[in-house]
Amino acid sequence: MLNEFKSKSNLIWLGALALLLVLSLVDLTFLSSCSGIEQGAAKQEAVQQDAEGQGEKVTSTAESGSTDEDAEETGKQSKSAAADGIDYLVLVNKTHELDPDWENTVKLVETTNKRGSTVTVESTALTAFEELQKALDAEGVVIDLNSCYRSRAKQQELVDQFTQEYGSDYVEKYVAKAGHSEHETGLALDVIPIVNGVEMLTNDEMLAQKDLWKVVHATMPKYGFILRYLPNQESITGYEYEPWHLRYVGTPDAQKISDSGLTLEEYLGEA
Ligand code: DAL
Ligand code: ZN
Repeated sequence: MLNEFKSKSNLIWLGALALLLVLSLVDLTFLSSCSGIEQGAAKQEAVQQDAEGQGEKVTSTAESGSTDEDAEETGKQSKSAAADGIDYLVLVNKTHELDPDWENTVKLVETTNKRGSTVTVESTALTAFEELQKALDAEGVVIDLNSCYRSRAKQQELVDQFTQEYGSDYVEKYVAKAGHSEHETGLALDVIPIVNGVEMLTNDEMLAQKDLWKVVHATMPKYGFILRYLPNQESITGYEYEPWHLRYVGTPDAQKISDSGLTLEEYLGEA
């Protein structure tokens, strides 16, 4: 009897235990599905934060110009595509503004001049200049790169600085407004003569080097450069004679322009 009772009560306990087990399993399943939802939501939020963080990183990288691989690769692609396609005969003057998109497409490279300063130049123009410099060296004529590529903002700084120092009449004759300077193309190279190891830095010192300029101006068309601001052509070019301002247009145009004695404006039918 006792055993019977015991086995009955065992059965009851077993049943109760089984019920508890079933209930707890249902509960656990329910809890785990809730937790699954919560985990999913947490994951989603984390992914979103990553995406936002990434977005900020990409933006700041692009703005700071640092070398994030993706950004750099994109830049390289657009620059090299444009390097093949830029118009080396582009006309930039007082009435022809440079397309603001030029800055994003031109392939600019940095070099170090004889003074140890970093100078930025359009890639093909720099290679051509190095060849020209070698040819001139062989003739005992030494020139160095001075001001070459300038951003629009840098050109504006120069306009402001020169207006303050020399007045607006000087600026009208020698300094282009921002957006209208050939220097923004990377194709204009201001050079300085070095005579007996001494740099000729002022306009007067440079203008006095007549024999040196004769050699430079006669040699450079072969390498793709023209003298952009010819003497007595201010009414066409808009600027006084600047023997130091070399403009890369490439070959054979440089030779043709030089042989013709025309300004770039006339050569392009835009005078
Ligand atoms: N000196 C030339 C005109 C320039 O500023 O671009
Ligand atoms: Zn110049």
